[in-house]
Amino acid sequence: MNDPNSTPAGAGRGVDRRDFVRTAAVLGTLPLVAPVWGSTRADDRLKVGLIGCGGRGTGAAANAMAADPGVVIWAMADLFPERIERSVNQLVENADETRVLVAPERRFVGFDAVDQLLATDIDVVILATPPGFRPLQLEKAVAAGKHVFTEKPMAVDVPGAKRAMAAAKAAKEKNLAMVSGFCWRYSKPEQAIYGRINDGDLGDIYAGHSTYHSGPLGTQARKADWSDMEFQLKNWWHFNWLAGDIIVEQACHSVDKLNWAKNNETPVKCVSIGGRGNREGDERGDVYDHFTAIYEYADGSRNILTCRQQANCSNDNTDWVAGSKGLGFINGWAPSRTRLEYNDGRPTWSYKGPTPNMYEVEHQHLFQAIRDGNPVNDGDFMMQSTLMSIMGRDAAYTGQTLTWEDLMKSEQVLGPSNLEWGPLPEVVVPVPGRTRFA
Ligand SMILES: NC(=O)c1ccc[n+]([C@@H]2O[C@H](COP(=O)([O-])OP(=O)(O)OC[C@H]3O[C@@H](n4cnc5c(N)ncnc54)[C@H](O)[C@@H]3O)[C@@H](O)[C@H]2O)c1
Repeated sequence: MNDPNSTPAGAGRGVDRRDFVRTAAVLGTLPLVAPVWGSTRADDRLKVGLIGCGGRGTGAAANAMAADPGVVIWAMADLFPERIERSVNQLVENADETRVLVAPERRFVGFDAVDQLLATDIDVVILATPPGFRPLQLEKAVAAGKHVFTEKPMAVDVPGAKRAMAAAKAAKEKNLAMVSGFCWRYSKPEQAIYGRINDGDLGDIYAGHSTYHSGPLGTQARKADWSDMEFQLKNWWHFNWLAGDIIVEQACHSVDKLNWAKNNETPVKCVSIGGRGNREGDERGDVYDHFTAIYEYADGSRNILTCRQQANCSNDNTDWVAGSKGLGFINGWAPSRTRLEYNDGRPTWSYKGPTPNMYEVEHQHLFQAIRDGNPVNDGDFMMQSTLMSIMGRDAAYTGQTLTWEDLMKSEQVLGPSNLEWGPLPEVVVPVPGRTRFA
């Protein structure tokens, strides 16, 4: 499992070739432009710009086209020109070339490519770079008046999260839609089961446990002409300032489901244990390879997240919810096993409905909202889940019990203040009990 674009524990790392072809098959059946929705525009196209043209960004562009027959991919931005070329080629080859309209003058490269892309006449921007850049890009996208699809997580540190929160709020004020890549929120079985849990079907929720146990993500060996910046960007999953560590970058999906079961209630404190027994080589940066984070709520109830990225170990990506009236079992990859078992004599409930591709449903939600003039906004849960993930990481790094109040006082900004090719500070792995909360 060394390909970063493959799917550890089946958990949606980008879009693999098989998923891509399935998406493309759907695309092939769609009309080019649907003359509906009562739009006042000269045409009914929605022009999409993609920032971050890697595995997930390219997948998201395909999902956007599958979701809405009027979507065209209009502009792209990346740090590396070959990523743009590869993304265009994949979309043309696997999706619908008549809707991939990324003219050469709308292919932007470099750290200011974001600004150039946002200055075009796109309607919607997809943000799919490493998350370290997300707060700045969210701010810029909203300032430029674009509707947003933003991949998760939304930040890697608390000051960044506050900026992202402000951008989500500003989007609401400007009537711009903002949908997040917390994709399980758009999965029908999960919507059904968490909807029931939120409606009180399991009574009071007193515990939850979510797992994200998978293999390590891939690395790229350093080339002689690479600066530190290029080396870290090519291995971004393994550098805290870019990824936020595995609990923030990857297991935030599972933290989000813990958060969902508690209806977005803010935990009062967190104890977390983590480390890295299995990370070797400079490519593996400063991130840990396992965490156990215990979130405690005002009523004493607890949510527990365990995550790891270790080779040759058992994988798991499931959720368990305990309430006063029964238990919930959620397996996103096997919806037929997703069920509620009651202790008050009611028969077991299990999901029997359709299971459309959640990656397309999230884009349908976005584009329908835009066409309806309904500025949907995922800001509340996407930011709470991002912050809870940062809380679990920082509690482990420092070895301290962190309250929410403590967390929100953090002033630590990860990453360099200047984005440019060149040297970066020495990489330091945090040590619990020694690393200070900042
Ligand atoms: N929702 C999901 O299931 C899911 C799955 C996979 C990845 N993701 C998220 O999607 C994002 C991208 O992940 P990926 O797997 O596609 O990574 P990737 O490395 O395949 O793609 C990232 C792309 O962003 C480009 N990039 C980096 N910094 C940039 C910058 N400052 N400006 C412009 N381009 C920049 C890179 O060159 C690369 O092409 C991450 O936030 C990740 O957590 C979400």
